[in-house]
Order: sequence, then C-alpha cells, then structure tokens
Amino acid sequence: MREKILIIDYGSQYSQLIARRIREMEVYCEITSRVDVSKIGNDVKGIIFSGGPASVYEENSPSIDKKIFSLNIPILGICYGMQLITYLNGGMVEKSDKREFGKATLEIIEEENPLFKGVPKESLVWMSHGDHITKMAQGFRTIAKTSSSNAAVCNDDKVYALQFHPEVLHSQYGKNMIENFVFDICKIEKNWKMGDVIKEKIEDIKKKTNGQKVLLGLSGGVDSSVAALLINKAIGDKLVCVFVDTGLLRKDEAIKVKKQYEGIDGFNIVFVDARKRFLEKLKGVVEPEEKRKIIGKEFIEVFNEQAKKLQEEKEIKFLAQGTIYPDVIESASEDGLSHTIKSHHNVGGLPKDCKFELIEPLRNLFKDEVRRLGKNLGLRDELIKRHPFPGPGLGIRVIEEVTEEKVRLLQEADNIFIEELIKNDLYDKVSQAFVVLLPVKTVGVMGDVRTYEYVVAIRSVNTIDFMTATFSRLPYEFLEIVSNRIVNEVRGVNRVVYDISSKPAATIEWE
Ligand code: XMP
Repeated sequence: MREKILIIDYGSQYSQLIARRIREMEVYCEITSRVDVSKIGNDVKGIIFSGGPASVYEENSPSIDKKIFSLNIPILGICYGMQLITYLNGGMVEKSDKREFGKATLEIIEEENPLFKGVPKESLVWMSHGDHITKMAQGFRTIAKTSSSNAAVCNDDKVYALQFHPEVLHSQYGKNMIENFVFDICKIEKNWKMGDVIKEKIEDIKKKTNGQKVLLGLSGGVDSSVAALLINKAIGDKLVCVFVDTGLLRKDEAIKVKKQYEGIDGFNIVFVDARKRFLEKLKGVVEPEEKRKIIGKEFIEVFNEQAKKLQEEKEIKFLAQGTIYPDVIESASEDGLSHTIKSHHNVGGLPKDCKFELIEPLRNLFKDEVRRLGKNLGLRDELIKRHPFPGPGLGIRVIEEVTEEKVRLLQEADNIFIEELIKNDLYDKVSQAFVVLLPVKTVGVMGDVRTYEYVVAIRSVNTIDFMTATFSRLPYEFLEIVSNRIVNEVRGVNRVVYDISSKPAATIEWE
C-alpha cells in the first residue's frame, strides 16, 4: 500500500490547497472528513488537521477521537486544527474580541526545531482566525509567536500546531514548513511521480478488466478525454467510447474530437448523431430548469440506448467515468462541514438493467494532475487547457427557446470570441469565456440599411473555484475587435454587449 499523509478536513476552504502543496512535493496524500482512528494503518506517515469555520466549544463542532494522539504518528494542526489539539489535550481556547485576519510577522523562538529548517527567524505568515489559545495544552511549548498569539506550539511526541496558514502563498516560508513536516518529521519518501502513476494505473486497469470490454461516455472535456486515453493505453480496442452529438456543442466539436482520436492505435469510438432528437424535445421550451431537465434526461436516454445496443453486441461489464478527486471530496463532505459544497453528478442515471461495474482511473487526481497526465498521454494542448463547458451545452446559452438557427448563430459568435481570445493570448488568462444569445432583437444600421437582429452577450470570468467569480477586465480594444467581427461575420446579429456581472449575485451561466 502506498504510504501517505492524511489530511483531516474540518471544512477549511484551504484543505485542497494543503493536499496540492503536498502532491507537488511528489508525496501522496488524501483528504478525509470522517475518520475512524482505529482504522488508521501504518501506511499513514503523518496527519494534518485542517482549519475550519467552527469553534471547538460549539455544540456539534467537528472533533476527533483522542486516541489519535497515541498512534505515534506526527500531527500538524492548522488554525482550527491547532485549537482542536489544544482543547483535546487540556488547554483552553477562547473567542477573541476581534478576528486576526491578514499578514503577521512570525518570530521563531526555537530555531533548532526541525519544522523551521531553512526558515529565517522572522517572516510573514497569513492569519485568519477568531478563536485563540489562552492556556497551553499539557506538554506543549511555544516554538514561534506573533505579537498577538502563540503562533506555533509542539510537544515531544511530534504533535505540531500552527495558528497561521502555511499552505497559502502569503505565508512566505509556509511551503518550507510543510516540506519539513512531511520529509523531516514524518519521514515519508517521495512516492507520487506522474510517470509511475501512469504505469500503476495502466496495470490496475488491466488487472481489473481482465480482457473484458469497457464503455466510456466521451464528452470532449479534459477529464473524460484523459480517462479515455489512459484506458485505451491499458486495454486498446477493448475500450468503447460513445460520443453523443447533442447539437448543443461548440462549433465543430465533433470534428475536433474525431481529429484528436483518429490515428490513435485501436481507439474505438462510436459517434451518435442525436441533434434532431434534442431540438425536437426542446421545441417551445423557455424555462431554464425545464430545459436543463429535458437535456439531462435525453442525454441519459441516448447514452443508455447506445449502451444497451453495444451490450447486446459485445457484453460490456464495465463503465468508465472521468470522475476526479475534487468531485469525490465534494460529494464526501455532504455532512455540511465544508461551506463550499457542490453536489456532483457524473454520467448520472445508469440503465437499470445494465449492471455496470465502475472504472474511475482519475478518482484520486486533482485537475492539474489530470492535465499533466493528459499531456503525458499526448492529449493536444488545445484540449488540455479548455475552459469548462456545461453538460446542457449551448441549450442554456440560447436564452429562452432553442432552435437550430439560433444555435448556429451562437456557435459562430462563440467561435469568433474564443478564436480572438487565443489569438490575443488571453484565453489562458481567463477561467471561462463564452457567448450568450439573447431573445431580443434591436435596430441597427449596416451599409445605409436598417437591420433588426439579435443581440449577443459576451461573458468572461476569472475564478479559482467557480463558486465565486468576477468578470474579466478584458481590454476595450480587444472587445472592439470581437464585437466588429461578430456583427460583420454572423448574419443575424447586429449588437454585442459585455456582461460585467460577478458571481454572486449573477451566476456564470445565464440560465
Ligand atoms: P454557474 O452558472 O452555476 O456555473 O455559476 C458554475 C460552473 O459550472 C458550470 N455549469 C455546469 N456544468 N453541468 C455541468 O457540467 C451543468 O448543468 C452546469 N451548469 C453550470 C458552468 O459552466 C461554470 O463553469
């Protein structure tokens, strides 16, 4: 079993950041919010308690069995984690009159402590806490302080507790401290190199499928593409990919997907042209939620029909999905600990009469790791760096009723916007960009002739987690180029507006 650092998530928005810092050090780690201490095995070389929004004295605040301190595994508590360690070891934590939020100067008291190897006596750290320690836990001593708090404490059993957040970049030497904890205190070796991960995953897939067929719904997005390439590498044409053209995809999407996979040895892909079906079902529908439901349901129906057909021909036992680690963590913490939960649905309703076993080779990878893996497997850059695209596709970007003509207009306008973003080196600088077709016509003038045509809105946002977002500050000169091209090249559109709303109060998509 692979040795690991276990991160216990107490609901901090930074828990995933801690995990990514450690993975960047080529050390394997996992995040969990439910821990049965008796089940922690000797593959766990170190434990980190994350921060969190609760207060240790609150009723139902998350805690842990005290036996964790007798396991003889090094522990690092961060913020709430520090308060929990203090509280469980006989110390006292109290509410401060005011929150300490922002940068503070850390002064190291115990310079020889291994946690501070390579860290200067004074440096800046990032604080974000309301509670603080008023009585030190038994057996603990202060090893660093700020002007207002015991910023770092430890005991002789390698239990460390920090009031600040070493995982955020604002903590100047935070990364060194995490590295010191991981390598010098937990004494774990590097064990998470992408090349080895690929080899291992290929072996796992081969072993699990044992010569049998696997079905995969390919969307053209990064996750399902990387999953497909990886499984293809493991089992070749035993993998059958299904690509559903809903007619609500970006311009030439099906062609691009074909181009990516043709020429790959034994890549078995079935294209399903379901464009007519979707348009038919969406006729006359204007309400966004209704549209979403219809598209979702139809997608599952098409996919299931294909699965059934293929199953009859080939007896497929396995279904592969591009589920990635954040999806797993998000759905695991539905106990309300984390304040930023999004429920995730992958392929969704599987056919009741097909008993598939799931294959999810990306289940323990973060998005940046999936991208690296994709690059390693030869996925084209254009596909790796793609902005997210919603399941219901352009169906929720044509506002109100969706028709073939409106989708075509939108595809053209959207394609121009994306082309220009790439050409002007802006695509990678924004998180998600697209065009929305409004159900409004306005008057314009073109070559002395009055026009009465559609309005499109350009949307571009910057965000880290897609839970909140701000509109991108795109240069006016650039917007002008896009606007001119759209009205000149897309017959039927005579006005372009730029969406300057942030999330909240708006959402990223319009419907
Ligand atoms: P909102 O509009 O909620 O979008 O601010 C946040 C992010 O989620 C994407 N999105 C979806 N993705 N199925 C998906 O797979 C959906 O139904 C869906 N709706 C929104 C959206 O594009 C943005 O990245």
